Amino acid sequence: MNSTYQAPSHLIKTPEEIEKMRVAGRLAAEVLEMIKPHIQPGVSTFEIDKICHDYIVNVQQAIPACLGYGAAPGRAAFQYATCTSVNHVVCHGIPSENKILKQGDILNIDVTVIKDGYHGDTNMMYIVGGETSILANRLCNVAQEALYRGIEVVKSGAYVGDIGAVIQKYVESERFSVVREYCGHGIGATFHDEPQILHYGQKNTGMRLEAGMTFTIEPMVNAGVWQTKTLGDKWTVVTKDHKLSAQYEHTLLVTDTGVEILTPRPDEDLSRFTS
Ligand code: MF3
Ligand code: CO
Ligand code: CO
Repeated sequence: MNSTYQAPSHLIKTPEEIEKMRVAGRLAAEVLEMIKPHIQPGVSTFEIDKICHDYIVNVQQAIPACLGYGAAPGRAAFQYATCTSVNHVVCHGIPSENKILKQGDILNIDVTVIKDGYHGDTNMMYIVGGETSILANRLCNVAQEALYRGIEVVKSGAYVGDIGAVIQKYVESERFSVVREYCGHGIGATFHDEPQILHYGQKNTGMRLEAGMTFTIEPMVNAGVWQTKTLGDKWTVVTKDHKLSAQYEHTLLVTDTGVEILTPRPDEDLSRFTS
């Protein structure tokens, strides 16, 4: 039985909030662009995080949302501005001086900034040294296309389940798998709000999308099985089979006729999306 439900009114942003989301989103995307030339073999993920942190704080005069986030019983808060997830790390990789990038690694940098009280959240893959294996390259391309296919179904009147359904169908048709334990999320003055955006599931289910909602889509795509495990540091999520994983994330605004991407970058061709 399929069930659907309406969005609670607090998830619908005002025009003033939407403008603040645009600013925060633009800043988050600019961090991902700024860091690109720094990603080279021999550089540590700690150094990359430090450059991002200082740019967010000193140049953007914004707040890195991940720094100090997520303390829980038995788990210390995250201590860095970015998550840096290399190869078989699915998400929430902790920047480290000991993690030195090498030619052919695939790296995800996930950045969330707070500006004027609102969050912008985005991530992308980088190929260290510019070249990698055919498999790793295809995995990154499939993860990005999975995000784009999810974005394409977003419009007022669609359902949250439509997003996961289209992503799962595409990823599995490419003989890869979709991570189940982590999902996209509503975002605004709150970092992780309702609704959860699962990257798998069934169309015509879940919350109905309405103009003015803002949320992320952030599919994690694995080369092998979808199952993950979390390391002893309580943050780093890795694939259970230690095969590669890739992810892309945008923050989005639902419009009456489609979608506005709040975290666009100049390296993307976004002409297929109607706002
Ligand atoms: N940016 C991540 C997301 O996409 C969340 C990272 S939380 C952290 O939702 F604490 F690990 F940084
Ligand atoms: Co997110
Ligand atoms: Co993120």
